[in-house]
Amino acid sequence: MSEAILKIRDLKVNYGGIEAVKGISFDVPAGEIVTLIGANGAGKSSTLRAISGIVKPAGGSIELLGEHIEGKNPTDIVKMGITLVPEGRKIFPDLSVKENLRVGAYLRKDNIEDDINWVYDLFPRLKERSWQAGGTLSGGEQQMLAVGRALMSRPKVIMMDEPSLGLAPIVVRGIFDIIREINRQGMTILLIEQNANMALKTAHKGYVMETGSITMSGTGLELLADESVKAAYLGT
Ligand SMILES: Nc1ncnc2c1ncn2[C@@H]1O[C@H](COP(=O)(O)OP(=O)(O)OP(=O)(O)O)[C@@H](O)[C@H]1O
Ligand SMILES: [Mg+2]
Repeated sequence: MSEAILKIRDLKVNYGGIEAVKGISFDVPAGEIVTLIGANGAGKSSTLRAISGIVKPAGGSIELLGEHIEGKNPTDIVKMGITLVPEGRKIFPDLSVKENLRVGAYLRKDNIEDDINWVYDLFPRLKERSWQAGGTLSGGEQQMLAVGRALMSRPKVIMMDEPSLGLAPIVVRGIFDIIREINRQGMTILLIEQNANMALKTAHKGYVMETGSITMSGTGLELLADESVKAAYLGT
């Protein structure tokens, strides 16, 4: 078992009076894929938004390699090595594919050309469409671009919020192939999905979230085989 790169303890997120995340704890070990699954409104995105500094946690701690990052601003958190691929992709529609990738590296001062080529190797489709406006890409291509843009910050941990949402099954398989490939290259990944089947097949470890709490955890295979997970999330 490798060391935890990210350690979440008793994390709470509130929006006014609404308790969206009610004190959850989990680890993301270096080099692994960890997934949080759960129904709409369970608090998955809120958890990622708290880790990335977009919302301030109401309580608890978040450690990246032993350093407390809870309450830091999003720019500092990206600089420290955590990048979020947000829900809905949020690419810049009027910028070209290549310009979108450059935006992902905006905090870096070193040479980024090698990394653009790395992203193009991972996503040959993006290379073919280097000059195309982001907004005119298909949904699957936009998702590739969102992942590629996040990789351009050279994160230690990449967090993905529902990368498969709204994509056709064959495109979803392509996205999961890429998730496995970047993990094989050493990337630590925290993945949120409603496609529990694909997520649990891909992840080393999974956590089930229900109304702001973690109710179950296990290896991906353990959760896939669990009767209550099957009934609630796998439709079998
Ligand atoms: N900005 C906000 N203001 C008020 N309530 C919010 C806000 N963002 C989220 N919530 C609420 O917090 C709860 C958790 O939302 P969150 O987006 O984290 O869920 P989720 O698990 O990502 O759901 P989904 O699968 O639908 O994306 C929900 O009840 C939601 O309505
Ligand atoms: Mg969400």
